[in-house]
Amino acid sequence: MQILDGKYVSEKLKVEIAEQAANYLQRSGRKPHLVAVLVGHDGGSETYVASKMRNCEKVGFKSTLVRYEDIVTEAELLLKVAELNADEDIDGIIVQLPLPKHIDPEKVTEKIDHRKDVDGFHPINLGRMQRNLPSFIPATPYGITLMLKEYGVETAGKHCVVVGRSNIVGSPMSILMARNTQPGNCTVTICHSRTPDIKKFTLDADILIVAIGKKNFITADMVKEGAVVIDVGMNRETSTLTKSGYKLYGDVDFENVAPKTSWITPVPGGVGLMTIIGLLQNTLASANKQVY
Ligand code: GUN
Repeated sequence: MQILDGKYVSEKLKVEIAEQAANYLQRSGRKPHLVAVLVGHDGGSETYVASKMRNCEKVGFKSTLVRYEDIVTEAELLLKVAELNADEDIDGIIVQLPLPKHIDPEKVTEKIDHRKDVDGFHPINLGRMQRNLPSFIPATPYGITLMLKEYGVETAGKHCVVVGRSNIVGSPMSILMARNTQPGNCTVTICHSRTPDIKKFTLDADILIVAIGKKNFITADMVKEGAVVIDVGMNRETSTLTKSGYKLYGDVDFENVAPKTSWITPVPGGVGLMTIIGLLQNTLASANKQVY
């Protein structure tokens, strides 16, 4: 068993991104600029957005956080997005999800100019990704592909089982793994909450990507000997033992599953750190006009 080390890969790629950001600054006299919109005070969202902003600064990007209380109206938020779309000093816009119930995330996502949609959630970007055209690729699936590439994990011809069909991870991940690209060229199965007997499918997976949001959902009896296991789970439980006041658990029972695998991502220290890299790469590509 070998670890797909998100800490190592993300630090290495951040050095490369910082070099490119410095070049960009020299050429253009400005820094790539990411704006994050955060509504309310969800604990997970606070942590993720703070980390995105911190990492932007680390690699020499400009970052701006726009905050709203959760009483903000949908109309106000849409107006803000329109303003950010029109601002020529902004390369990337993300609106952190989830949003409060009275705001339709689809409306907000579609309002973001697809040329600044560095989350890759806009239907234009998703459609272009599926067609293998230049597009922004959702950060978590993008980060996972960068990690597989870094370690030279062979995917062509393999059976990839994706557990979870979210717009953010499962659905775009399944598209990427089926595409005629490297990594990719897999036979893909998507399992979700309405799949009877998920184990039947996971046991046949050469590559198992789990994004279901349930601690220890994948147990050792569900994994084939020698499989590659990617754990996207970010399940937070309050804990008095850590400085942050919570402890992070993946969707995979790492301790018992790891010995059966060829490669596996830990939580923390795996996919979460790569998500940031996906976002930084998209923002840099937007500044460099490499996509649109
Ligand atoms: N919520 C969970 N993951 C993400 C993400 O990658 N982007 C945004 N905007 N919200 C999220």
